[in-house]
This record gives sequence, structure tokens and C-alpha cells, in this order.
Amino acid sequence: MEPNDLRPDIDVSKISSRKSAKAAINGLSKAIRYHNYRYYVLDAPVIDDSEYDTLLLNLISLEEKFPELQSPDSPTQKVGGETLSELGTIEHAIPMLSLQTVYEESVVRDFDTRCQDELGVDAVEYSAEPKFDGLAVELIYENGSLAIASTRGDGLTGEDVTANVKTIRELPLVLLETSEEAVPSRLVVRGEVYIRLQDFEKLNLKREKSGEPIFANPRNAAAGSLRQLDPKITASRPLRIFIYDAVESEGLSFDTQWSILKSLPKWGLPTQLKLSRICHGVKALLEYHSELDEKRDNLPFEIDGVVFKVNSKTDQDKMGYRARDPRWAIAYKFKPRAAATKLLDIIVQVGRTGRLTPVAELESVRIGGVTVSRASLHNQSEIERKDIRIGDTVMVVRAGDVIPQVEYPVKEARNGSEKEFEMPTVCPKCNSAIEMSVDKKLAQCPNMSCPAQIRRSISHFASRGGMDIEGLGSKRVDQLVDAGIVTSLLSLYKMKNEDLHGLERFGERLIENLLEQIEATKSLPPNRLIYALGIPNVGEQTAKILAHNFDSITDLMAATETDLLRIETIGPEIARSIVEFFGRKETRAMVEGLIKAGLGKESALEETSQFLTGTTFVFTGTLEKLNRREAKQLVESLGGKTSSIVSKNTTHVVVGPGAGSKLKKAQELGIEILSEDEFANMVGL
Ligand code: IVH
Repeated sequence: MEPNDLRPDIDVSKISSRKSAKAAINGLSKAIRYHNYRYYVLDAPVIDDSEYDTLLLNLISLEEKFPELQSPDSPTQKVGGETLSELGTIEHAIPMLSLQTVYEESVVRDFDTRCQDELGVDAVEYSAEPKFDGLAVELIYENGSLAIASTRGDGLTGEDVTANVKTIRELPLVLLETSEEAVPSRLVVRGEVYIRLQDFEKLNLKREKSGEPIFANPRNAAAGSLRQLDPKITASRPLRIFIYDAVESEGLSFDTQWSILKSLPKWGLPTQLKLSRICHGVKALLEYHSELDEKRDNLPFEIDGVVFKVNSKTDQDKMGYRARDPRWAIAYKFKPRAAATKLLDIIVQVGRTGRLTPVAELESVRIGGVTVSRASLHNQSEIERKDIRIGDTVMVVRAGDVIPQVEYPVKEARNGSEKEFEMPTVCPKCNSAIEMSVDKKLAQCPNMSCPAQIRRSISHFASRGGMDIEGLGSKRVDQLVDAGIVTSLLSLYKMKNEDLHGLERFGERLIENLLEQIEATKSLPPNRLIYALGIPNVGEQTAKILAHNFDSITDLMAATETDLLRIETIGPEIARSIVEFFGRKETRAMVEGLIKAGLGKESALEETSQFLTGTTFVFTGTLEKLNRREAKQLVESLGGKTSSIVSKNTTHVVVGPGAGSKLKKAQELGIEILSEDEFANMVGL
């Protein structure tokens, strides 16, 4: 690339002809693709983030101005397209095999001996690579463009995740043309989609804050993100990819596995050459395994072992395949990171929903670079099944999961002083009698006013996706709970001005504001209340789905698991969670109280909930009363869809000051155009 091509200097406001727009779009797209390659594949960017953002923003505004010039391959298309009702299936042209997995050095030696014998050489040449801990995918590039992406599935047929894979930022939608290697007309590659550890932690933190369930490990997070029906959700997740194989490449043949790893980056496909190595003979293989085992704790992503592949393609063909795996490769897994330590005590934590969880307090121990002093014990039944006692020496394992697990007690180390654990019969925070399920898997504090529960549930209730009560940050919640003014969600609606007088930092203005904000929550749609209740496993999206599918919150409270499972996107875990939540009479009484106080507008739900069904709204220009997020949420909660592109599927365009090309397009297509006031009237604001 010429230096000038790296930063196309374009003034979007001056571009008015289609021809100059086309040239500018081409230049910007090419530059952005190149910078993606420098950043993600070479890890050597040549411009800074803000310059990159400017290029991308210029491209976005040009495409908004000339929507007909937007190509499906444009680097702006990393935001995700339409939602699907289900993922389709794709048949793999060549089956996606798995690998023989081994844990013992002796089996690696046997493998090497077999390769030596069959290939008739003294030292076999291998490509030794990290075994990435993510989700396998196949990508098909046709004439340089990413055409199909699928998961492994059962090896023969996988799920069609094309729209989702296209949102992975480091993956080129169009293969780069570099002078060295011509792009094959058809290229089929395979690789692993994963999430970096740091990104995973951030993602979980965000989910925890918004009351969504956290992912157990980066692999689950990657798999869950890739198999979404709504690519916009995938686009919001920090997915990454490493390619480790090319199974078809028209007009080009690779002699070795190593040449694949070396060539793919030239087209912009990320491989992991730095951590891979050519090894001659078994000694080198074993050294590679222990080196990587030592390095793994300092890597930004999870690997769970190494993969050894006979390097020469001719030799691979000679050795051939078994039913499910090649005979020329094996995966040598790392041992799970474990350590023995003393179980000092078992404490009991009370969660937001009143669930009691036993937690192991351990004598601090280093496991795989991390100091562990606590571990999950799940529930009473699990503790009994594993026969874990306080005072035991226990094996603690970190198997890639966020929370370490107590695996088993070392019974030989017992001296008779160990004590069996019994779940307390009363809540450690509020002394209410605990409700224990028959299978001893669920222990519940039924007191919705338990201080441990109340702080967390009020903060969640008041959070942005919930009732959005800005004046109720966690410090104020603490203050109100400590003063005994707030004892339950319902008590928020009974608070009066005079109750708050005299509290530190609660001035008259603030009190009035807070009470007004609380009053305003009564006009929020029912999905917001459903989310705000903090039902385990029910995030904002699920709350919307529930609001669409039930005529009232009272109906939702009465739903059985079977009723809930009839809804396509509700799985058994969510269904169980909802039924359990509303199954408690204290919860029901509290929700009924909230409905009586005027929340969740049952009648409004029945009359208005679906009246925008079949419509698709586009908002353009500046909205003055509502913000975009609220406006879109409103349309969706009334059964309509929203989009950022005006097309023949658009039914309404809401315009504010500064509207440009979208307004023009809407006029051309004869779509109904509304002002913000007209829109507000229409939705009953
Ligand atoms: S090669 C026929 N290389 O491990 C060879 N696989 O059980 C097929 N994996 O699901 C795989 N890192 O997704 C290969 N460097 C690597 C790998 C790798 C991770 C995964 C792969 C597959 C599983 C094999």
C-alpha cells in the first residue's frame, strides 16, 4: 500500500456525485481492510485507533448517503444483520473430524513409533501447535468473499453461522490480495473461534451488572455468542478466531501443514505461527508440550493442550484416517490445573434471589499462576455426594472455569477431627427459616426483605435496563436500607417525602427528583418490570419475549414450565428459573403488590402490546424528546421491529432535524414519514 492509500483524506460533506462516492468508498474499504490485517493478523498497526475510527466513520456516513453503494462485504457490516428464527444447517463437503486425545506421554511415544514405522523414517517431521479452547468452525471463501461459515456439528452437518461469523472483527470478509499469493477462487479453511481472557472477564462483569447469568468459561461464552439467532448480539461479543487448516484451495496445493500456517496470514487470515513449531522426533514433541504447559498461564487466551500433526501432506495421505479422526495427528492435553489444600471452613452466601450457596474457604494455594482461597461447592447434595468434610485435605481444580471447584477429599489424610457440613436451617443474614428442596440442591431464604437480598435486588431493580431510577445508586440504596426505610421493592412505592428528610446528602430537590423518578416507573412497559424483578437467567431480551407472549404479568406468574417451553427461545433452564421464582408465595405477594401500585400496566399490555406488529421503524436525524435507544425499545415492546437501513421492508420513518439520505430514500419509496411528535402520539406518549 502506498502511504497515501493508508489514510485516504476524504471530506464526506464535499462528495456529492455517485462516481466520486464510489471511488471514496473503495479507497476507504481497502484501507480499513488493510488496517484490520495489520492490527489483528500482524499485530503491528500503522495508524492509531482514532485515525482508524475516522476512516470507519467516513465510510459509514458515505454509505448512509449512498445506500445503494454499500456492498455486503463492506467493513462496516460487522454490526450484524437481521435476526433469524433458527440457525440453518450446512453439510460439510469434507467431514470435520476430531482428534484422538491423549493425556499420557507413553501414548505420544506410541504415536510417534507408529508414524516412524508407517513412513519408514527415523525422525518424523511434525507441525506442533497449540490446541485452542474454543469452538470449531469452517469458513468457505468464494472468489475471495466469505460466503459460508458453519459449526462442526456432528462432523457431517453443522449449523449455519455465516451472519454471526461475519461480525468477527479480525476476520476479513474479503481475502486480501497481496502481491505474493493470488487468492484462490475457492478456499475452505477451518479454525477455532474463541474469546480472550481479558475480554471474557469484561463480558462477565457487564452481564453480572445487568443481572444476566455469567458464563462459566471463555469457551462457553464463545459458543453461546456464535450460536445466537440475532447477529447483533454476536457483534457485541469480543469473538476472535485462529485458523489452523485449509482443506480446499482451488488452483493451489500446500505441501505441508506448516506452509498453510505461513500462507493464510497473507490473505488476512489469522493463524498462530508464533506459538507453533516444527519438531523432529518425539523428544522435541514432549519438550514443546512442557514448554507450552508452562507458558499457558501467561497467554491472553485459553489453550487446553497441544496438537501434533505429521507435517508433510503426502505423508498424511499415506497414513490416512480412522472413522472419526486422522491417523497422522493427536491432541496431547494438559493435565487440569489442580492442587491439594486444606478446607478450613464452609461458609454460606446469600444471593440476590435469596439462594444460599455453600462456599469452601481454603488455605491459600497457587494453582496455575492464580492464588485460590475460595471455591464453589454448589449445594448440600454435591457436598454429600463427594463426602467433603470441614478440615479435609481436598483437591481443588481450575479447569478453565471462572470459579475453581473442589473435586474430592483426600480420605487417607483424615485424622478423625473432620466435621460433616450441614446447611443452616436459618438464613445467616436474617434468621428466617430456610426452605430446602427435597433433593437438597436448592436452599432458599424466603424473606424478600432479607438485608443480603434487598440491597442487591433493589440495585438491580433500579438499574438502567430495569426501572432506570437514576437517583438510586448503590450508596443511596445502602443508606435507605440501613435507615430501615427500604425493606422491600414494594416499600420504594410507599416512600413519602417526609420519610427521607434528615438523611445525609438527601436535599429537598433530590428527594423530589427521586420520588418523581420512582413514580415515572409506573408508565414503563411490562418487559421492563419483568427484567427488573431479577428472575435468575432472565435478561432484557428474555423479558421482552415473555412480555410478548403473555397477556399480563399475572398470567406469566401462573405459567407452568410446559407453557414456557412452548415459546421457541425459552429453554428448560430459564423455564425452571421462572417457575421457581414465582412459585414462592412471598414473591407472588410482592409482585401482586407492585401491580396494585400501578406497575407493569396489565390492561395497557393487553390493549396495546402488539399493535405495532408487522411494522418496521427507522429513526433518522436528531430526536429531541426520546433518545434512540428508548424509541427503539418502545417500538419493540409494542411488537414492531427497528432497523437502521431504509428498505422496501420499512413501514415508518421517524425524522428529526438533520435527517438526510434516509429521509430521501423513504420519500422515493413512498414510506410513511412521521415527525417525533407524530410518533409520540402514535405510541401514546
Ligand atoms: S486440527 C483433523 N488444530 O480440537 C484435524 N484442531 O478434537 C482436525 N482444535 O474440534 C483438527 N486447536 O476445533 C486442530 N491447532 C489445532 C486445534 C484444533 C484446537 C480443536 C478443533 C477440534 C478439536 C479436535
